Amino acid sequence: MRRLALAILGSGRGSNCRAILEKIRDGTLLADARLIVSDVVDAGIVGVAREFGVPSFVIPEGKWRTKLEPEAEQDLIRRLREAQVDFLVLAGFMRILKSPLLNAFPGRIINLHPSLLPKFPGRAAWSQALEAGESVTGCTVHLVDSGIDTGRIIAQREVPILPDDSAEALHERIQQAERELYPAVIAKLATELAEAST
Ligand code: GAR
Repeated sequence: MRRLALAILGSGRGSNCRAILEKIRDGTLLADARLIVSDVVDAGIVGVAREFGVPSFVIPEGKWRTKLEPEAEQDLIRRLREAQVDFLVLAGFMRILKSPLLNAFPGRIINLHPSLLPKFPGRAAWSQALEAGESVTGCTVHLVDSGIDTGRIIAQREVPILPDDSAEALHERIQQAERELYPAVIAKLATELAEAST
């Protein structure tokens, strides 16, 4: 049976990457993590890759903070193709992807965002929800397009905002939900692929 081949891209701590790799390791997620990619040389996610023995590489920082250099993006595409990756899983990857990469993996790049999109795209979405006086926020898994946190929504999970919540406590509660939702969505994609290839 064919297993879903993943690349996981992140710029931060790597807690979602860890949650995905744990599910792969315990056999509840039938996928292979082929490559872990970061744009931050000392990001936690690079250490997670090492810990789980998954090949990783760091994209050169380049001159822009929000997007990749065109050469770096081409090199990334080459490496992803070489690793025969089916799906790109963005887990806190803080660069906007451009058309070469989007066209190389059409409909096969997913992102996780800490709000109930389309509400509160962009940075620190949990603080945005808190400041807006919402009583519920959550997290969203969506297909990636050329916008910022836009693209077709695949799944969402609600998280309550409690009276006297701090931004830190709310963020942690959302991240707990993310660590359940993201592997579950990927597991569903893996099942669909397995069924399509039998
Ligand atoms: C996650 O909370 C994810 O929702 C967010 O980055 C965090 C990465 O955490 N992504 C975005 O805000 C995308 N716009 P992690 O490195 O611990 O997985």
